[in-house]
Amino acid sequence: MTRWNNGTDRVPTVSPDITDETNALPARYLTDPDVKMEKEKIFSRYWVYAGHANCVPDPGDYFTRAVGDKQVIVARDEDGAVRAFYDVCAHRGSRMVDDTPVTDPGNMGRIRCPSHLWTCNLNGDLQSTPRSFEETNLNPNLDDSSVSGVDPDENGLMEVTTDTIGPLTFLNFADDPPLSLAERAGTLQSRLESLPSAEYEHARRYVSEVECNSKTFGGNYSKCDHFEAAHREWITGIQLDESELEVNDYHRVLHYTDEADVEDELRIHDEHEAQFQYFWHSTLNTYGTADGYGTYIIDPIDESRFQLIADYHFADPDLSETDAEFIRTSRRLQEEEFELVERQYEALRSGALAQGQLGSNEHILHRFHRLAQEAYNA
Ligand code: FES
Ligand SMILES: [Fe+2]
Repeated sequence: MTRWNNGTDRVPTVSPDITDETNALPARYLTDPDVKMEKEKIFSRYWVYAGHANCVPDPGDYFTRAVGDKQVIVARDEDGAVRAFYDVCAHRGSRMVDDTPVTDPGNMGRIRCPSHLWTCNLNGDLQSTPRSFEETNLNPNLDDSSVSGVDPDENGLMEVTTDTIGPLTFLNFADDPPLSLAERAGTLQSRLESLPSAEYEHARRYVSEVECNSKTFGGNYSKCDHFEAAHREWITGIQLDESELEVNDYHRVLHYTDEADVEDELRIHDEHEAQFQYFWHSTLNTYGTADGYGTYIIDPIDESRFQLIADYHFADPDLSETDAEFIRTSRRLQEEEFELVERQYEALRSGALAQGQLGSNEHILHRFHRLAQEAYNA
């Protein structure tokens, strides 16, 4: 049942739970600044995509990633493993490195804090502090000393749990993630691993700031019912009646066939089928008509804004015309999507609607809203 708020009062009888198959998630979970759903309940507990390991092939290669308010260093260590650390110095809390996007990664032999030169190795272990830390006040001697006066085991960098699917590197901020990446990804893991993702190089990145709650955007990918209204040009080339939306515990896959694709021998999919995958709640992987693919990162700013970071990977980072057309189409779909969800959110945030009414066939969106509720209640 649709429920309206009466003036500025909240409807007291709206259930905080989704108890009915046609109840949407109460609107306040999308609009209330006090509901710390985005950063704490989802992005701090569920696996989030960090970046492509191909971008950091050698020991010491690194990039930084912001997830909500958290700053993370993702680096390849001396043994070749990709690891992640909070970009926070144990001394007085400074950031250790400058913003270094995965599109322009850096290389460092050690991680040295610019504030007072505490220095860690690529395993995050504290290796040295300046002599000034112990020996003098007014005449600092900044030569390295072995660590003195503090326990190096307790004062290195704080590691963030990482795991990978092929070259796709994921982070989890929970002390003890409730489910492993493999458990969370389910069949998405083998599906992604069956694709030659590692053979592709990063080619382009586009960052967009979108004025709506990230779940408004994510929910919009639960249904194809907006295609006709929002993506009219695109669907003229799609064989929609042969499309299928596959729903799994934490991911969905839209299988579709693009007529332009049928003759394309280079494409990486079998059966002339393209895929669009959504992995709750931070990552979308697009697999389209070109010999390559895109990944989207959803990164929350606050309850009413998020960034969509779209990365495109191709066999040759010098784009072919087909690749460029793939990106143009992807960008156009994004713009159409942004317009739709911003319009939706603009009205929702007015507070008039307390809880939306879903159609009886909108069980996939209902399931998405249940995931949000599950995250709240965890
Ligand atoms: S805050 Fe990093 S060395 Fe002081
Ligand atoms: Fe869409």
